[in-house]
Amino acid sequence: MDSYTVRMASAPRHNGKKDRPVEIRVEKLRKAFHGRPVLQGVDLEVRQGDIVAIVGGSGAGKTVLLDHMVGLLTPDAGRVMVADHSRRGAPLVELAKLDAEEFDRVRTHWALVFQKNALLSGTVFQNIALWLREHTKLSSVEIFERAREALDSVGFKGDDSIMNKRRGELSGGMAKRVAVARAIAMRPRIIFYDEPTTGLDPQNAGKIHELICSTHDAAWEAGGTQTTVIITHDKDLLHRLKPRIVMLFEGRVFFDGSYDEFEKSDSEIIRPYFELMPMLHRVPAAQPEGE
Ligand SMILES: Nc1ncnc2c1ncn2[C@@H]1O[C@H](COP(=O)(O)OP(=O)(O)O)[C@@H](O)[C@H]1O
Ligand SMILES: [Mg+2]
Repeated sequence: MDSYTVRMASAPRHNGKKDRPVEIRVEKLRKAFHGRPVLQGVDLEVRQGDIVAIVGGSGAGKTVLLDHMVGLLTPDAGRVMVADHSRRGAPLVELAKLDAEEFDRVRTHWALVFQKNALLSGTVFQNIALWLREHTKLSSVEIFERAREALDSVGFKGDDSIMNKRRGELSGGMAKRVAVARAIAMRPRIIFYDEPTTGLDPQNAGKIHELICSTHDAAWEAGGTQTTVIITHDKDLLHRLKPRIVMLFEGRVFFDGSYDEFEKSDSEIIRPYFELMPMLHRVPAAQPEGE
């Protein structure tokens, strides 16, 4: 047995606590591409410590929504407010109104694990160290230790060769784990995952499930308020995480509630999607043209 002892979701999830500060607020967000509306008035509030899964059919606009939440896209209408942790009291700021420097500062508190791993060429260590060198005051030794610790926590304990492996030498599952390690090493306030397990075999998917759960819970237990936002069709992951579910349909939030309610729902929109999820999970969504 490797370092992943499968632990079913038993820890309480800390969702929807109204007394926690808002981390992200999406207001009346609209976005169209070439005249075709994708988001048609999305409202969503994520609070510190939340674990939120964004679900919905292929092409429903999940990635487009996430890209707005991290400032990669700007709204046609509506706005995205995020907590600025570099300022006292972490006030909410409107993403689209920040200048480049302010945006860079706000963004240092986020980590993204994208559908395509987006690992840079170079070694695993370089992938983890680059951001730490640029954005922290850690010494080389501390960066090395931070990288080692992050790699250990994603299942590379005792693997001395992993640090020097290059992107091309990693299997899909390994690359995903490295991408998660890179995110963890940043010690972010929020981790965004876009379909972290789509297309992975069940064993590797299981490891990623465990990682997402343990990363969120460890940060919570350490008194932190780490927020997790995840796009997925992976029922096993949802079953395990028991996140708050936000379902997009026809450009709006169609459902916003607990996983248990979602699973039990007899809605004519939710039911067929729920049945389709395993298929969507196996087949990675095609990337939009022009990417
Ligand atoms: N940069 C873009 N240019 C044009 N169309 C886009 C772009 N990004 C996304 N789209 C379109 O928006 C719709 C929603 O895409 P996306 O958010 O990626 O869906 P999903 O819910 O599967 O993540 C799709 O029809 C996609 O083709
Ligand atoms: Mg997507």
